[in-house]
Amino acid sequence: MIFHFKFLKLFSLVGLSFCIFFTFLIAWRGFSNGSSKDHRSKHEKTFSRDTTEPERVVLQKTFLVAAIMSSPKDVETRNLIRNTWLKLGRKIPSTVIYFFPVGTNSLGDEDKAELFKENETYRDIAFLPNLEDSYENLAQKTLHTFEYAVKKYDFDFILKTDADSFVRIKGLLGALREVQHPMLYWGFLDGRAKPRRKGKWSEPEWMLCDRYLPYQLGGGYVLSHTLAKFISTNSQLLRTYKNEDVSVGAWLAGLKVRYVHDPRFDTEWTSRGCNNEYLVTHKKSPGEMLAMFDSLKSHGVLCPKQYQTRPSYVYNWAVPPSECCTRINGSRIP
Ligand SMILES: *[C@@H]1O[C@H](CO)[C@@H](O)[C@H](O)[C@H]1NC(C)=O
Ligand SMILES: *[C@@H]1O[C@H](CO)[C@@H](O)[C@H](O)[C@H]1NC(C)=O
Repeated sequence: MIFHFKFLKLFSLVGLSFCIFFTFLIAWRGFSNGSSKDHRSKHEKTFSRDTTEPERVVLQKTFLVAAIMSSPKDVETRNLIRNTWLKLGRKIPSTVIYFFPVGTNSLGDEDKAELFKENETYRDIAFLPNLEDSYENLAQKTLHTFEYAVKKYDFDFILKTDADSFVRIKGLLGALREVQHPMLYWGFLDGRAKPRRKGKWSEPEWMLCDRYLPYQLGGGYVLSHTLAKFISTNSQLLRTYKNEDVSVGAWLAGLKVRYVHDPRFDTEWTSRGCNNEYLVTHKKSPGEMLAMFDSLKSHGVLCPKQYQTRPSYVYNWAVPPSECCTRINGSRIP
């Protein structure tokens, strides 16, 4: 009898402690969800890395993941990006997350240690251990990046962009909400490019046709989760070409892709200038990146001064791809 009584006492004590614990837990959770600051997703918090709040353990769904391509040693450029366009993502209540993928295979111990240190500070580097980060391997890097993103994050869309691109993140998110589609492949589309047979970008492997298949130019493009997952799942089967953007176009060519050509992507091998409509603008110097950041911050527009050095085009789907992309001088196309 005494034993039973003791047992009962212990049992109710434990039970009571559980009750108290969970009451507190529920109250705390309710409180943090109710406060508008905490209600913002974890992913926005990752944007503002100066917060001292702990990371949530469970990853929430992200609308957009940005993968920013830089070479392992290019810490200066990564800092420039962290201090410019990534900062402008801070106040967005929508969910954005970003990371810098780097291939660490055959990277020296010292370089690796530097990267670990950098990651301790910023927590935004994706280590790709099976990738040798080199100029020849850019398409492989894109493959590994999609694999990493699909494994690690639950997202709707992924932006692949380069370290010398400036992304107007707010504008991009707003526009993405308008064009979003489960099979989206969004950027500046080229259907008439011919493979180079000589030089740095020569493509000995390309034998499908005497042109490339339509592809979104590499300075920045967006894929839906479904497409990124397709690439990731089939990565072992995919042929990589020298140009990573050409490769993506070829990988997706057989699918029910929603191609969206958008001249607001200034993502060619050279920039067309500066236009306040641009969502992504490529081949920008550190000085230009800073100037655009300042302009956005103080005047709300991208360009300190708008100008065009190269005409743009609207993709013409009514003609064969080789005639898709006529640049029109003096047009208002950004
Ligand atoms: C880099 O930082 C992220 C975020 O804290 C972490 O998840 C990841 O494990 C780190 N990578 C390495 C290789 O330490
Ligand atoms: C556009 O301008 C460039 C240089 O000013 C010229 O070479 C080109 O022929 C022009 N194209 C058209 C379609 O007028």
